[in-house]
Amino acid sequence: MRELVAQTRVAPSDLIYPMFYADGLTEKREISSMPGQYQHTLDSLKAAAHEALAAGVRCVDLFGVPLDSDKDATGSVAWAEDGVLNRGIRALREEFGDDLVIMADTCLDEFTDHGHCGVLGEDKQGSQVVLNDATLECYTRMAVAQARAGAHMVSPSGMMDGQVAAIRQALDAEGYTGVSIMAYSAKYASAFFGPFREAVGSSLRGDRRTYQQDPANQRESLLEAELDIAEGADFVMVKPAMAYLDVVSEIAKFSPVPVAAYQVSGEYAMIQAAGRNGWVDSEATMLESLTSIKRAGADQILTYFAVDAARILR
Ligand code: PBG
Repeated sequence: MRELVAQTRVAPSDLIYPMFYADGLTEKREISSMPGQYQHTLDSLKAAAHEALAAGVRCVDLFGVPLDSDKDATGSVAWAEDGVLNRGIRALREEFGDDLVIMADTCLDEFTDHGHCGVLGEDKQGSQVVLNDATLECYTRMAVAQARAGAHMVSPSGMMDGQVAAIRQALDAEGYTGVSIMAYSAKYASAFFGPFREAVGSSLRGDRRTYQQDPANQRESLLEAELDIAEGADFVMVKPAMAYLDVVSEIAKFSPVPVAAYQVSGEYAMIQAAGRNGWVDSEATMLESLTSIKRAGADQILTYFAVDAARILR
């Protein structure tokens, strides 16, 4: 009876699995703050993607972890044809063709030696800032390189103004008119990203509060989503998920394109940690969290639980 009347259903095909491919590893390495998640080698990446697909997950989101020696001020290895992320994308596309939707993270923070999502410079008053428009140029090169490597979808996550329009224009100009864009529209400057910093070996000191959203605010996030839709986003996304369900819900009310939510590393880590201590039932908590995110209005959920959840949901 409950199933008959349930207003919300989570299906494996709603879930997007974020994965990490790291340069220079001889075997996969577990991320200590994200038990069950790995920095992959090419072989283990392909094997894990096969497991995801077998469980019914149809989309993966790939992040690259470069060697420290490949990082520089602009993150140029991000658009190098043989850069770690582009190699990972190419390997997945060769392995899966169109059976798996291959999404790539389109942001510089893993690749810059300072760890920021854009290039640094001085503004007119001499303050050190992330330069919006100079960063857009890097993003367009990166997105085109990802499309060339075989990504079905790129996902600008750096919160620069105009990033969706710039990437759409660059992809179209190179003939990649069918490559979709998932816009990180409302990405908050969140402490819930903590474990991700280990996952990608981040070099960041300080924070991203000059370009990510302030947790105190909702209105600006709605504007950011509107702008991304007008710029040609194929999906808009809210991140983190559970602490921002009001934002998901408000955007879902007006968005003409699918609305995704990203259950981030800290959300995953908290449920796993409490589960391991016997303080919560981690399986039930996982499923409840995913159901709540969908109930709020998310059409797709990016989650490190994707494969575990899909196996149970099947
Ligand atoms: C930046 C990026 C971040 C995450 C995804 N993309 C980190 C940040 O903005 O600081 C976080 C993902 C997670 O915590 O799971 N490109």
